[in-house]
Amino acid sequence: MKVSADRIADLAARHGEKPGALLPLLHAIQDEMGHIPPSAAGIIAKALNLSSAEVRGVISFYHHFRTEPSSSPRVEICCAESCQSMGSEALLAHARKTCEVHPVYCLGLCAVSPAMMVDGKPHARVTPEKFDSVMKKAAS
Ligand code: FES
Repeated sequence: MKVSADRIADLAARHGEKPGALLPLLHAIQDEMGHIPPSAAGIIAKALNLSSAEVRGVISFYHHFRTEPSSSPRVEICCAESCQSMGSEALLAHARKTCEVHPVYCLGLCAVSPAMMVDGKPHARVTPEKFDSVMKKAAS
């Protein structure tokens, strides 16, 4: 997807009025564009009255954020206690056979462990078979 500086500025202006706007804005940009382009940091910094270094620091701190476009879905599998006790290690090993996986620590879905996110969409009670099904749908 073509990255539009005007669109980033528009999103920044829309989120900039709210307290704690940086994370929701970064999520909005990534949700819409698939990643946060490096050129966005300056636009965001100006809109939120932050330094570009602060914005880049937050983007690099959270592994969820991509700074380059990708053709494959972003897969995050929870490896925190509840999910671990329900088989996330085996799920992680299964998933790594076919795609790049990012371990995360609690998606807030502990009651329906093990949990994962695929391009920001949550999935609960994920078995290896369910993982394969979700990934097949994501590819189509
Ligand atoms: S421990 Fe996995 S979602 Fe909370």
